[in-house]
Formats: sequence, C-alpha cells, structure tokens
Amino acid sequence: MNRPSLLILYGSETGCAQEVAERIAREGRRLLLKPRCMAMDDYDRSRLDQEPLVVFVAATTGQGQEPGNMKKFWKSLLRKSLPPNALSTLTFAVFGLGDSSYPKYNFPSKKLHKRLLQLGASAIVPLGEGDDQHYLG
Ligand SMILES: Cc1cc2nc3c(=O)[nH]c(=O)nc-3n(C[C@H](O)[C@H](O)[C@H](O)COP(=O)(O)O)c2cc1C
Repeated sequence: MNRPSLLILYGSETGCAQEVAERIAREGRRLLLKPRCMAMDDYDRSRLDQEPLVVFVAATTGQGQEPGNMKKFWKSLLRKSLPPNALSTLTFAVFGLGDSSYPKYNFPSKKLHKRLLQLGASAIVPLGEGDDQHYLG
C-alpha cells in the first residue's frame, strides 16, 4: 500500500518538543501514514517544497530564542532571496512549546508560523501553543 507521507520536524533544547514530535509520528503510523521525524537542522531544507504535509514542533529557550537544533533551518527560511511563493505547495501545522511566565512566550513557533505563511504555505490548523503553566503541564 502506498501510505501518504507525513514529515515531522522539531526544534528542541531539553527533549520535550522531540518527545511530542515522536508521539505525533507514532499517532501518524497508527493512522496508516508514513511518518518521518527529525530535528529541523537534520533536514535538507531545499526539499521542503516537495513535502505535502509537515508538522513543526518548536520549543522556546533562552529569552524567546530558537532551540539549537532549529537555528540553521530557521536562518535559511529568513533568506531575503526567497520569493513569496517559495513554499506554495506546502501544507503545514505548527505546535509551540513554551511557558507563559516568560515575556517572549512561544516566540519561535509564532515567528515560524508567520514566516511559512509569508512564503505561501497553507496552515491546516491555527498555531498551537503549549504552555508549561497549564494546569495539566
Ligand atoms: C532556560 C529556559 C528558557 C526558556 N525560555 C522560554 C521563553 O523565553 N519563552 C517561552 O515561552 N518558554 C521558555 N521556556 C520554556 C520551554 O520552552 C518549555 O519548557 C519547553 O517545553 C521546553 O521544550 P524542550 O525540552 O523541547 O526544549 C524556557 C525554558 C528553559 C528551561
């Protein structure tokens, strides 16, 4: 059977976003998709326009900064030479992990969601914001 592909890319400093990404991959497998899951910086960004569906899971570190393993990927998305339709074939979802006690709450996921839209990609769901302060953690 030709299973639909699902790419899950994470940016994680201390492992939580990676765990969430791996959980999404397991769920995808259960739904008979063909998931691949890796850190954003381990993915060849030049292939992004060939991906039908990508779920991004991005944590926040420092004072609203990107985790170490998504910095290169994020920088490459900011290139001024990218045309506004660079990712027009991409459908995506972004889920952020943060803590609302910080002033720059969930900044990397907010910026990533906005930049993907700027590059012509389509969001299948609104930005999801995970909060350490939530009563369920
Ligand atoms: C040193 C440190 C700095 C953090 N800074 C922020 C921040 O500026 N904004 C925010 O929303 N969350 C912040 N957080 C919360 C983390 O994003 C949150 O705990 C997340 O689940 C961590 O995911 P990770 O384990 O994949 O790195 C910070 C956490 C730590 C430990």
